[in-house]
Amino acid sequence: MSELTGKVALVTGGSRGIGAAIAKRLAQDGADVALTYVSAADKARTIVAEIEAAGRRGLAIAADSVDPDAVTAAVERTAAEFGRFDILVNNAGIFPFGPPEAVTVEEIDRTLAIHVRAVFVASQSALRHMEAGGRIISIGSCLAQRVPHPGVSLYAMSKSALIGFTKGLARDVGARGITVNVVDPGSTDTDMNPADGPDAEAQRSFMAVGHYGSADDVAAMVAHLAGPGGRFVTGASIAVDGGYAA
Ligand SMILES: NC(=O)c1ccc[n+]([C@@H]2O[C@H](COP(=O)([O-])OP(=O)(O)OC[C@H]3O[C@@H](n4cnc5c(N)ncnc54)[C@H](OP(=O)(O)O)[C@@H]3O)[C@@H](O)[C@H]2O)c1
Repeated sequence: MSELTGKVALVTGGSRGIGAAIAKRLAQDGADVALTYVSAADKARTIVAEIEAAGRRGLAIAADSVDPDAVTAAVERTAAEFGRFDILVNNAGIFPFGPPEAVTVEEIDRTLAIHVRAVFVASQSALRHMEAGGRIISIGSCLAQRVPHPGVSLYAMSKSALIGFTKGLARDVGARGITVNVVDPGSTDTDMNPADGPDAEAQRSFMAVGHYGSADDVAAMVAHLAGPGGRFVTGASIAVDGGYAA
């Protein structure tokens, strides 16, 4: 029996990159896994097929994290179709970049809606279903810990909000046997931040290890927190960043 056998997980933004790696890893570890996406329906279906090939139930849900009703509906549908709800991974994200003078109010609202409001709303909904052993894991960023270059003030602001949220919610639900943590990835090779992109060399110079991580590196930490080994870890911000924040 695998560590997550009998558990049900939802990963937001599970169609590509880090979220897809997390969805597949949780399924390998025994969980049934739903995932949300906003536009990449084909890629979401491919990840579901891989989950099913691992012998688990998979479900792709179109849900734009900008819309709180869609986020709530995704949690409710996961619980209804799979019959319980154990693990929420708040992963969906975007990368606004540029000088603060160029940032519009619409970009601020959109970024905070996806990175902050959706995380709160999904967690509220998930907590209505979770029993002891429940897990809420959010994907933050190393840029919440250290900002070694310009252009990311909006992104860093939105990701640092997860640290306060995580600490506060951990206090709210600890007595129920539910843990809440944030995983802060460093430069991770995905569509958002390709290891051969224009800023990749500079990012390598910021990390102790001198190279990008993989989405599987982040998924491994999420799987640990989701499993029984994570039962005494809560309210924590955990860097998986090759020493970016060192
Ligand atoms: N890559 C890095 O270096 C890095 C470093 C630190 C933190 N992170 C964080 O890690 C998380 C995943 O990043 P990634 O690198 O895997 O990005 P990615 O490759 O661009 O994938 C983003 C995922 O989020 C989904 N998504 C985007 N906007 C959404 C919305 N409005 N509603 C629902 N889903 C949405 C996408 O869905 P579609 O496929 O449908 O577009 C996709 O599944 C993000 O929170 C990011 O901030 C990444």
